[in-house]
Order: sequence, then structure tokens, then C-alpha cells
Amino acid sequence: MKYNFLGNTGLVVSELCFGTMTFGGTGYWEAIGKIQQQEVNELMQVVVDSGINFIDTANVYSFGESEKLLGQSIKDLGLQRNDLVIATKVRGRMGEGKNNVGLSRYHIFNSVDESLQRLQLDHIDILYVHGFDPKTPIEETMRTLNDIVLTGKVRYIAICNWPAWVVMKAQGICQLHGWNKFVCMQYFYSLAGRDIEREILPLAADQNLAMMPWSPLAGGFLSGKFTRDKDKTGNSRRDNFDFPPINKDKTFDILDVISEIGKQHNVSTAAIALAWVRQQKGVTSTIIGAKNIDQLNDNIKSTEVALTEDDLKNIDEVSALPKEYPGWMVERQSGDRELK
Ligand SMILES: NC(=O)c1ccc[n+]([C@@H]2O[C@H](COP(=O)([O-])OP(=O)(O)OC[C@H]3O[C@@H](n4cnc5c(N)ncnc54)[C@H](OP(=O)(O)O)[C@@H]3O)[C@@H](O)[C@H]2O)c1
Repeated sequence: MKYNFLGNTGLVVSELCFGTMTFGGTGYWEAIGKIQQQEVNELMQVVVDSGINFIDTANVYSFGESEKLLGQSIKDLGLQRNDLVIATKVRGRMGEGKNNVGLSRYHIFNSVDESLQRLQLDHIDILYVHGFDPKTPIEETMRTLNDIVLTGKVRYIAICNWPAWVVMKAQGICQLHGWNKFVCMQYFYSLAGRDIEREILPLAADQNLAMMPWSPLAGGFLSGKFTRDKDKTGNSRRDNFDFPPINKDKTFDILDVISEIGKQHNVSTAAIALAWVRQQKGVTSTIIGAKNIDQLNDNIKSTEVALTEDDLKNIDEVSALPKEYPGWMVERQSGDRELK
């Protein structure tokens, strides 16, 4: 396992982050995973033994169950709190109350206290806003995030799933007021979804924000277990919960290429898909998901894969994004600024 600095901070995180969305299984989340305490503990032991020090959860995962199971596993396994980087999130609806959702000052403060209780911790290392709130002014959210860092309950603040222009606006507001800024981002990034290459990754590079790709296997699709003739396996989350949305025809073409590369490297197709994400410029730590120990070990093994220049070229040819405006105009006009 290798380690990277988290963007423009002194914090060190493993190149893989373990996602806990499969823990619990309450209601809507049942399709994703129903892992209970004993198996959570077994997975967490493999995680820490592999050198992964970075764990990702959210208040909404199984409506708090994921945080509870994670917190209990830290206790049960006697893990050192200071050897772990724990990230959780706020934004999603946590109850029926009108204010039990969003990025208001009211909900952020309540949500952080509730997450800390469920995690049995006294601080969160990274608090992500889990998505855009079109109703709360950005100034209110950013001032609150700054204040919550000042309480010591949260060490760093971070962002998921916001459009690039909103992230930049928020960073500018923080700069203006001397508030804590976002230090890292979490976005869907995989061979089946390279959209963030247009606006988000260039923003991350410009602002030195760390990038944590989520759903690097596109919800399991890039493991290759679905084929053009078989769109269900009988026990996969994509059987009933077809997320994130991808172009399946194009992804089958990608799978044809990466499964061949997997054979050459003697590893699974999933390991190739994960190695590709890990080897992309700007990626700090890939958030892996697993429903059992075999998947977890397979995904950890991806860190041993080094894709060659030829592998990367072949994969890029089949998975690259189509050119889009204004990107193609920027590329065209940038040529005359190259020194010959
Ligand atoms: N910020 C956000 O908005 C956001 C959104 C989504 C996720 N996340 C974070 O990212 C983490 C990872 O996301 P994800 O679970 O969608 O990741 P993913 O890697 O795209 O999908 C993981 C799922 O794929 C299947 N799988 C995993 N490894 C496999 C392997 N080696 N072979 C075959 N199948 C395999 C398993 O489901 P089945 O066995 O059921 O097929 C597993 O639950 C989450 O836990 C969460 O922490 C964040």
C-alpha cells in the first residue's frame, strides 16, 4: 500500500480508501449491502492489515447504521483512533423533520453531533458535504463549516458532487473571509464514467484539491460479471439498484479490452479497472466497496498492478470521452501558447 498527502494538507492517506456503504442494509440501502457487525469486523481487520488507513462513511448510509457499525468495529478490534482517517458526510435526509436535511447551519451542527455519537468518536477527520443544496446560501454553508472546524469536532472539510463553478465560488468566499476551505473532493470516476475529466479534475489540479473517486467499478459493473447476454447475476446490487447510470454498450466494449489485459497481468477484470483509476493523474485515494472478503482482497490486490503505457493507451482508446465544447476550443486555442 502506498500513501499520498491529501491535497494541500499535511495529512497522509492510503492510496485506497475503504467505503462502508455496504454496512447495515436499512430500507433503501438493503440492495447495496446488509453487512452486520461480525462481518464488518472481519472486513475492517483485512482493511487495516492491508495498510489502508482511510475509511469513508456517511450519515445517510443505512440511515446511520453504517456509522454505528464502523464505530463499533473500531472498539471491538481495539484499533488506534490516531492510526485512522475517518470521513463522514452531511446533506441527505435523516428523518421526516423539515430541517433534517440539507446544508443549513441548523442541520450541519445537528448532523455532526449525531454522527459523532453513532461513531463513538470525539472528532471526524474529514466532513464532506454530500451534494448540492439549492436552497441554502453558500455563505451560510461555508461559514458553518468553518465554525464547525473551529469547534474541533471536524478536522478538514470536503465536497462531493457539486458542479465545478459552485466549488470555485465556495473557495473564493472562504478566501475572502479567511475561512477554512475545502481540501478534497469525492466524485464518481471510473472507466464507465470519465465526466470529471472535463471540469472537476482541472479544478482539483488548479486548487490542489485531493480527489477520491467513488464507485470506481461503476457499482460492480466493471468487474465483468454482467455480460451482453446476462444483465443480472442473482446476488448483485446492480440486479435491483442500477446505479450509477452508465452507457452499458460502451462499457461492454471497455470490458472486452480490460478483461484481456487482466489475463495478461494474471489478475481480475475488477483489479484492472481499479488500477486504471489509481493511475490517473490527480487521483489521491480510490474509494473501494466490497460485499465480502473475497471482493475486498481482490480490490486490494489492484494496488500491485502497474498498467503499462500500451495498456493505458488501449484502455484510453475505448473509454475516452467524446470532445465537448468549450473543451475542444480551449485545446485548439492553447496550441499557440506552446514554446517550440
Ligand atoms: N459521495 C458519494 O456520492 C458516493 C456515492 C457512492 C459511493 N460513495 C462511496 O464510495 C464507496 C464505493 O462505492 P461503490 O460501492 O459504488 O464502489 P464500486 O467499486 O463501484 O462497487 C462496489 C460493489 O461492486 C461489487 N464488487 C466490488 N468488488 C468486486 C469484485 N472484486 N468483483 C466483483 N464484484 C465486486 C460489490 O457489489 P455486488 O456484489 O452487490 O455486485 C460491491 O458492493 C462507497 O462505499 C461509499 O463510501 C460515495
